[in-house]
Amino acid sequence: MLFLTLFSFWITPLSFGLEFQYHNSTEVEQYLRGINRNFSHITHLHSIGKSVEGRELWVLILGQSPTEHRTGIPEFKYVGNMHGNEVVGRVLLLQLIDFLTKGYMNDPLVTKLLNSTRIHILPSMNPDGFQASSRDCMYSLGRFNNNGVDLNRNFPDAFSSTTEEVREKEVVAVMEWLKTEKFVLSANLHGGAVVASYPYDNSNGGSELQGGSSISPDNDVFIHLAQTYSFNHSSMHKGDSCYDSKDFTGGITNGFGWYPLQGGMQDYNYVWAQCLEITLELSCCKFPPESELPGLWNANKPALLAYIQQVHLGLKGQVLDSNGLPVQNALVEVEGRRNLCPFTTDANGEYYRLLLPGNYTITVTHPAHEPLTETISVPYGPDKFSALTHNFQLQRRLSGSTLDTTVTYPCSSRNGIQYLGNNSAALVPSAFTALTVFTALLLHRLQLS
Ligand SMILES: *[C@@H]1O[C@H](CO)[C@@H](O)[C@H](O)[C@H]1NC(C)=O
Ligand SMILES: *[C@@H]1O[C@H](CO)[C@@H](O)[C@H](O)[C@H]1NC(C)=O
Ligand SMILES: *[C@@H]1O[C@H](CO)[C@@H](O)[C@H](O)[C@H]1NC(C)=O
Ligand SMILES: *[C@@H]1O[C@H](CO)[C@@H](O)[C@H](O)[C@H]1NC(C)=O
Ligand SMILES: *[C@@H]1O[C@H](CO)[C@@H](O)[C@H](O)[C@H]1NC(C)=O
Ligand SMILES: *[C@@H]1O[C@H](CO)[C@@H](O)[C@H](O)[C@H]1NC(C)=O
Ligand SMILES: [Zn+2]
Repeated sequence: MLFLTLFSFWITPLSFGLEFQYHNSTEVEQYLRGINRNFSHITHLHSIGKSVEGRELWVLILGQSPTEHRTGIPEFKYVGNMHGNEVVGRVLLLQLIDFLTKGYMNDPLVTKLLNSTRIHILPSMNPDGFQASSRDCMYSLGRFNNNGVDLNRNFPDAFSSTTEEVREKEVVAVMEWLKTEKFVLSANLHGGAVVASYPYDNSNGGSELQGGSSISPDNDVFIHLAQTYSFNHSSMHKGDSCYDSKDFTGGITNGFGWYPLQGGMQDYNYVWAQCLEITLELSCCKFPPESELPGLWNANKPALLAYIQQVHLGLKGQVLDSNGLPVQNALVEVEGRRNLCPFTTDANGEYYRLLLPGNYTITVTHPAHEPLTETISVPYGPDKFSALTHNFQLQRRLSGSTLDTTVTYPCSSRNGIQYLGNNSAALVPSAFTALTVFTALLLHRLQLS
């Protein structure tokens, strides 16, 4: 009798991580703390902020160097349960954490992923909404945060001047998070449909609007990313449209082409943080019975892993000066891709640029240096768990250039909230105007010091 009691006492916590059940915030926190204790060499647990009701927004980081970025190791993230009543993502991300931690040094794919990538997982962005949800397939109770706000409409929007100006705590936490890490690739997990949706979600009728879709300069890459998920998923690629009559050929859709929305998270990640993010809709039923969870995990597991591996597409490296020191805020631009806000180097001089295999002309500019243009043949990186590493070495600019200081640069802050205006492409500065502004700022700094 005593033995049995002790036995069941031990078994309960042991089996926790493997159970296909819905876990409340307290249980999720306990689980994440346990994982972090048991796998401290490959995990780091931290909170990026609190919800309106004061619940912590826990992020578990997994990788060989969980506490800090390492040069050449891309930062990846998954965000679940942004809509509190869309709960499959929350369950799958906990299962993924279990699978990754247990698979390290056991499963070759997991080992290679964790050795080559730093993976950040936020199982629930809206824990208050989850707590308020009823276990219902379609009803929207719990979708919003505790202030009744839809978090996927509350981000700054580059295409609209009319989005809400008051940012919710959960949204501010994510915006701040994006400033602390240079994320390269991300996905945001939802429910109520089965499809992979990619930017843009909004448009203001500018040149991005093409045939009812809102097309970004990296459309080819986004389609590839969305297809990687849908075709590695057991059924998404078949184009199940649930209650919707939309055409989801191949299981993917342009966000705006499906339905336009303002203030969404994926456009914000891409436009302002240069992090390519897609939105994954994982089940027709938003809050399915627990008996369906094992099947949902099996259907999504290969797709969740294959999608992480795509962080190794394209090119990465450092921009260095003639002494081999990192150059921060250099623009790294790919010919033919006029991003609303450019890809820039971080304090370590690093850049990451997801590109499909092919030949690309890259121009690197910085006000204190001569521009550098190189044509590079980019192979397929995911198979090797590494993008092509290519460093650029800049030469100092000779003095005597004239400067035009009249243009302002709309994307200089990575959490900018400026409206880009109608026909936004026309208003976005060229690398040259951005360069002159950086130069002017630099000269201003020099005068002061
Ligand atoms: C951590 O390890 C302990 C002891 O082996 C075990 O009881 C517990 O279930 C583990 N927790 C997790 C979350 O893996
Ligand atoms: C969370 O679940 C545990 C275990 O089922 C339960 O004891 C606890 O009261 C729940 N907490 C909340 C806030 O619902
Ligand atoms: C992963 O990294 C560990 C620790 O550095 C090393 O022992 C192991 O061989 C690596 N495995 C693979 C498959 O890269
Ligand atoms: C699954 O993803 C991999 C990339 O990891 C890709 O090469 C493969 O083609 C995908 N599978 C299918 C069936 O599309
Ligand atoms: C890229 O350029 C190389 C020569 O540098 C050429 O052999 C190759 O066919 C080109 N690839 C593409 C996709 O154009
Ligand atoms: C943008 O310009 C187009 C064409 O000039 C116009 O039809 C549309 O209403 C404008 N949109 C906004 C948001 O001003
Ligand atoms: Zn949703």
